[in-house]
Amino acid sequence: ADEVTFYEAVGGEETFRRLVHRFYEGVAADPILRPLYPEEDLGPAEERLRLFLIQYWGGPRTYGERRGHPRLRMRHAPFPIGGAEHDAWLAHMRDAVDEIALPEPLEKMLWDYLVMAANSMINKLD
Ligand code: HEM
Repeated sequence: ADEVTFYEAVGGEETFRRLVHRFYEGVAADPILRPLYPEEDLGPAEERLRLFLIQYWGGPRTYGERRGHPRLRMRHAPFPIGGAEHDAWLAHMRDAVDEIALPEPLEKMLWDYLVMAANSMINKLD
């Protein structure tokens, strides 16, 4: 099949790089989210999220080669994620999605996925 992937349609690696970089600028300055990240350097976490999203949307499968099966709910279990963490995460993603300014049907696909995924990561009752 020679169908164009979502990854290709939105501009490939460069677009995901900008998206996730902008998102982590928000995380770095966020009083709720920043303390959840175990490492002082957010660079490696930024790379993991970028590679995950690239793979999810049909790009290179580097995430899986390095990290194996995503199992994201399990990987988030050590971090308490309730309403406040969910809302902060999505707010920074909203900024980042606005920043990359995708054409409408693509932006909606990306945003709907992020909303669904963020919801599924909640693991704590407020
Ligand atoms: C990792 C927080 C939602 C994808 C992490 C880490 C934290 C975190 C603290 C550890 C940093 C690291 O060492 O990589 C949160 C919070 C969320 C959230 C507070 C709020 C809802 C999501 C969502 C996705 C996602 C919706 C996917 C769309 C990832 C990935 C990793 C990660 C791929 C790295 C997993 C690995 O390979 O170890 N997240 N996250 N997160 N998060 Fe989230």
